Amino acid sequence: MGLKSKDLLGMKQLTPEEIMEILDTAKTMKMVVETGPKKTSHLQGKSVVTLFYENSTRTRLSFELASKYMGSTSANISASGSSVAKGESLLDTARTIDMMGTDIIVMRHPQSGAPHSIADKINASIVNAGDGMNEHPTQALLDMLTMYERFDKFEGKKIAICGDIYHSRVVRSNAIGLAKLGAKVSVYGPRTMMPIGIEKMGVTVADSVEDCVRDADAVMGLRVQLERMKSSLFPSVAEYAKFYAITPEVLKLAKPDAFLMHPGPCNHGVELPTAVYDCDQSVINKQVTNGVAVRMAVLYLLMARRNNL
Ligand code: CP
Repeated sequence: MGLKSKDLLGMKQLTPEEIMEILDTAKTMKMVVETGPKKTSHLQGKSVVTLFYENSTRTRLSFELASKYMGSTSANISASGSSVAKGESLLDTARTIDMMGTDIIVMRHPQSGAPHSIADKINASIVNAGDGMNEHPTQALLDMLTMYERFDKFEGKKIAICGDIYHSRVVRSNAIGLAKLGAKVSVYGPRTMMPIGIEKMGVTVADSVEDCVRDADAVMGLRVQLERMKSSLFPSVAEYAKFYAITPEVLKLAKPDAFLMHPGPCNHGVELPTAVYDCDQSVINKQVTNGVAVRMAVLYLLMARRNNL
């Protein structure tokens, strides 16, 4: 039991068996979140630190709650309130946290590959909570848990992902993870937001939002990441909403029992109208709960690996 690697840096490193072990463990952890008591001893005597160089609500808080629900000592540090603001390097920062007896460091950084660059230089396990435009593995895992609660198996399922594909670490991690479990991923967004060669990741690039969503088993909207754009990549919000948004009419093209996902935060009226965000098919709020369960599972399985060393 436990993960093979000391760290969770991306979906790339996980085997299909490890992904399923995380999802099955998360299903059990979800009972703790939903029915309580929200206190277990899985991480008793252990410490978890979240180190965030970018803003976050869901990821950071869910890791913090996950570690506390499992009895660990946990602490937060962000770039703005720490010695990072005085120019301290990422490696020196991580080593400092490591030398305080930390078992797991959960980190988010704007630079792709940042967690990979320090993982083998410190003793603590590193969990990638989002690195630039590269990966966001625990987001993909919580998305996959949300699907797994409705599918018996992933094989042959069509997952439609629409929006700002270029800047999305969520789509990369989902594409990698879903392909490993045999699902088919269809993507659509403005051509200016479509990475060249994305087909090499095993996804199909659709010709329209309608083609992308048609007959899908699950539909995911992605946030337009204005903060990562150096210049505007689409003419106007009104045009984006007209040609790329998942409207009620578009959602009707998916399978009748399909459900709607979004990693959050959402630009209401841009990638999704509020009516779609709040519609009966929306499982966006369930994704938030699943985020805590998945992060409990990841922390638990990493700690199991550390304990078995
Ligand atoms: N989905 C996600 O990563 O949200 P936060 O930025 O709020 O953590």
